[in-house]
Amino acid sequence: MCGIFGYVGKQNASKVLIHWLEKLEYRGYDSAWFVVWNTSWLQLVKSVGKVSYLTAKSENTLVADETFSYWIAHTRWATHGWVTENNCHPHYSENEKIYLVHNGIIENYKELKDSLVAKWYKFYSETDSEVVAKLIEDSWEWNLLKTVEKVLPTLEWAYAFLFISKENPDEIIGVKYWSPLVFWYSNDKKDLYFSSDTQALAWVVENIIFLDDWELVHIKSSDYTIKSEWKLVSKSAEKIDVASLKAEKWDFKHFMLKEIFEQPKVLNDVFRWRIDFENLKLNKAGSFEELDKFEFDKVVFVACGTSYHAWWLGTYWLQDLAGMDSSVEVASEYEYKNIRVEAKTLYVFISQSGETADSIEPLKYLKSKWAHTFWIVNVVGSTISRLTDSWMFTRAGTEVWVASTKAFTAQICTILILTLYFWEKNWNLWRQKYRQIIQELQKIPGIIDELLKESEEIRKVAQEIKDYKQFFFLWRHLELAVAYESSLKFKEISYLNSQALPSWELKHGSLALVDKDFPSVIFMPSDFLYEKNLSSIQEVKARNGKILAVSNKKIDSATWNVIIPETIEETYPFITAIAGQLIAYHTADLLWRDIDKPRNLAKSVTVK
Ligand code: F6R
Repeated sequence: MCGIFGYVGKQNASKVLIHWLEKLEYRGYDSAWFVVWNTSWLQLVKSVGKVSYLTAKSENTLVADETFSYWIAHTRWATHGWVTENNCHPHYSENEKIYLVHNGIIENYKELKDSLVAKWYKFYSETDSEVVAKLIEDSWEWNLLKTVEKVLPTLEWAYAFLFISKENPDEIIGVKYWSPLVFWYSNDKKDLYFSSDTQALAWVVENIIFLDDWELVHIKSSDYTIKSEWKLVSKSAEKIDVASLKAEKWDFKHFMLKEIFEQPKVLNDVFRWRIDFENLKLNKAGSFEELDKFEFDKVVFVACGTSYHAWWLGTYWLQDLAGMDSSVEVASEYEYKNIRVEAKTLYVFISQSGETADSIEPLKYLKSKWAHTFWIVNVVGSTISRLTDSWMFTRAGTEVWVASTKAFTAQICTILILTLYFWEKNWNLWRQKYRQIIQELQKIPGIIDELLKESEEIRKVAQEIKDYKQFFFLWRHLELAVAYESSLKFKEISYLNSQALPSWELKHGSLALVDKDFPSVIFMPSDFLYEKNLSSIQEVKARNGKILAVSNKKIDSATWNVIIPETIEETYPFITAIAGQLIAYHTADLLWRDIDKPRNLAKSVTVK
């Protein structure tokens, strides 16, 4: 994670640099640094904590300059070493002539560090990145570009770097291998920028170049050249419409709450052009036409975190409705399996950010084996969306801070649309049910609106549960994904411990934990398993445990109730999931947690 940013131009450093760091802060907010460079002076500003601390420190220290200056900056999400000023980027060489910012992980850094220590190099930080600065000093070829090109092949695995050097004061080098990096410039080519991703871009960017692995941009004065695997290439710039990426908090207390309330609109965006509500059928254009060319008998889903939970629902829908064999794999583990690529299997990857390293690795492997891959991503222009030939964007708009909410809802909606596609394609279409689901989907945004009106009621329940320290989140059938996702949301932002568990598993051991101080949240809409869930409540109550029931019916045996509006069995997860988000949000807010920037986390996980 970490965000890196670079700039060459004449603009006022303190304003523009801080602006961009704030945009990238969602990628990591342990600490931030920048170094501003012009041919006659150099300035480093650093701060542990959020970018706002850096803003306070840098105010009035940096002045506008009429000459070009060269800036590199970084927001950190710690991988190697504590959150201290010493571990913050930019890192520099022992002679203080070479500076760099890095996003990624250098896996062979220990070996490289040992060889440098043997040559008497001293290290001020615990990071893998400092090793690269010292390595460049040690390998110095009297020219930054030459030396960088010599050193990079010795580094194992992921990086996006920006380098500057006092020896070549009018140059900046950006290079990418696995970790994301984009480069863009103003129309008059007087302002040149690097950034970790497009989500940080706040206005229309006319001339953007997405860098691929082993590509390097070398800026000298205000000219740039691009190399691929160290050979000069020409790459054309693209224009991206970033209007849709803009995000403002409006009057909401937190971005998370704003994003929860955006969900009805998000779902209407997901439906657009894909579902023909008048004729109760799918509009089979775009990605579906691509899928139509093949016959698939199995779908394997690969994802991490919240996106992984979304897929769980997908496996149930695909099996129950479309009659298709399907399984879900957690991306970080998948690459360790002996994957047998099947010609009639569709491998579907899902990611909000489109930058998750754990997902990119198995995707690249599957592509190398000619597997049929399909992506469901949210961020347009992200690494993942550029890796596959067919995909569906989730259209959730920018999700600014860590806890994923509207992206999850958009994901499950997109997955349901994919299910409808396969269902219709397969011979076993139960037309009445198919039509009923489409009819109900159209109503879901309105039903969510009804639930959102109950937000303050849910806050009252949160007030009751906030002082307990650990919880079970119980589920049966389709509520599996909801319970796991709600439990994750709860942990992430309230820092209270919760474990998702199938209700029927309680009696196989976990019931031992239940007592008056260990409540359970149960997701139990009135579906065909409702009675069974009532029995689970009794099991918990018999052990003195308290129950928060999330259901469309008031449950007298429960200690607390969150009553949700009615829908049909297949679409309840849209509603219960949002109830889970509100429970997590209000509990965390009542505990005064830093909801949009929970501790230890970052928005996109671009390291393994
Ligand atoms: C939790 C959350 C994470 C992400 C996970 C995968 O709120 O957002 O669990 O879902 O890191 O990220 P993406 O979906 O960007 O691949």
